[in-house]
Amino acid sequence: MEYRQCGKSEFKFSVIGMGCWAFGGGDYWGPDSQPDTHSVVRAAFEAGINYFDTAEAYNEGRSEIALGKAIAPIGRDQVYIGSKISPCHCYPAMLEQHCEASLKRLGTDYLDLYMIHWPIHAHSIRHFTQDESVINHPPLLEDALAAMELLRAKGKVRQTGVSNFSRQRLMEIPAGTGVVVNELPYNLLCRAIELDTLPYCIQQGMGVIGYMTLMQGILTNRFKELQEVPAWQRRTRHFNASGSTLSRHGETGHEQPTQKTLDSLRLVAAQEGLSLAALATRWVISHPAITCALIGARSVNKLRENVLAAEGRLSPLTIDRLNRLTAGLRDIMGNHFDYYESKENDRT
Ligand SMILES: NC(=O)c1ccc[n+]([C@@H]2O[C@H](COP(=O)([O-])OP(=O)(O)OC[C@H]3O[C@@H](n4cnc5c(N)ncnc54)[C@H](OP(=O)(O)O)[C@@H]3O)[C@@H](O)[C@H]2O)c1
Repeated sequence: MEYRQCGKSEFKFSVIGMGCWAFGGGDYWGPDSQPDTHSVVRAAFEAGINYFDTAEAYNEGRSEIALGKAIAPIGRDQVYIGSKISPCHCYPAMLEQHCEASLKRLGTDYLDLYMIHWPIHAHSIRHFTQDESVINHPPLLEDALAAMELLRAKGKVRQTGVSNFSRQRLMEIPAGTGVVVNELPYNLLCRAIELDTLPYCIQQGMGVIGYMTLMQGILTNRFKELQEVPAWQRRTRHFNASGSTLSRHGETGHEQPTQKTLDSLRLVAAQEGLSLAALATRWVISHPAITCALIGARSVNKLRENVLAAEGRLSPLTIDRLNRLTAGLRDIMGNHFDYYESKENDRT
């Protein structure tokens, strides 16, 4: 397993990390059992994965609980745990309570990484709460970051980060604030961060944790056609909004170019003797600015396939071919990386 320096922090994260959103079970990913979580976390640790990513919002805290139980027999100091606070909870007075609650659910007394899950503003907050008083008076970013610094001083948090912050939002972070990481969507079908935000993270020496490495299962052999993708996973701007009652972007989407791109990626995978999932993982980690690519997996077999994928590398020629094959889709989808919203409602 390769380990990469995470920005200006003291952390070296495994190049693939464990996405723990599905742990504890919920609407988005369906049911999940604690014995499966135990097996998959143990297998990940034994394969050298050292970063485990969760959030207070994942399955109403059940992801943190399930992860905490699975880490306990391994040993807290053997792994890095990152969790995220929802933007509606970022008032300084609330932030510490929410951090404490995450610590309690995880059964630990510190987080390695504590991130603000989405930018803090009314439209973003609306996705986390219906409380109009919060929506109309959102917490201030600088107050939230100052409160997170206090948690660092108290030893409850080792490093702080943000998630889904565009270049413009990153520029609002006061100088001298110790934000070491930005967690962002990145895969062969979602390349928007390359256009603006990723170069800025590189320039600032910030670590980047990639999520949706497998495009929530679409970059695997699980679905032959896009029509088979379930409602929760077809809410992105790749799909026509009319195809899912859960969709919010309201646009006609880009199903034809997405399907065409997927077909050509399958061809490359076959020529390389790789599964589509392995090809997709290797392409993400071929980018040197990606510190750690998150993959969610609930079975040991899938986890092992992902570990094997992370152990190999694509040739420069193949990377170049994949870049060219997917550039058209990237360019028609535009440079905003909120894949769930229209450009006007972009939360990033
Ligand atoms: N910061 C944010 O806003 C944000 C947003 C989304 C996700 N995340 C993080 O990123 C993590 C990854 O989740 P994601 O949503 O990005 O999804 P993902 O990792 O792109 O895809 C997960 C899906 O791929 C399947 N899968 C995994 N390995 C596979 C393999 N080798 N072959 C076939 N299928 C495979 C999983 O199946 P099973 O689960 O059935 O095993 C699951 O259905 C999350 O857990 C979370 O930690 C962060």
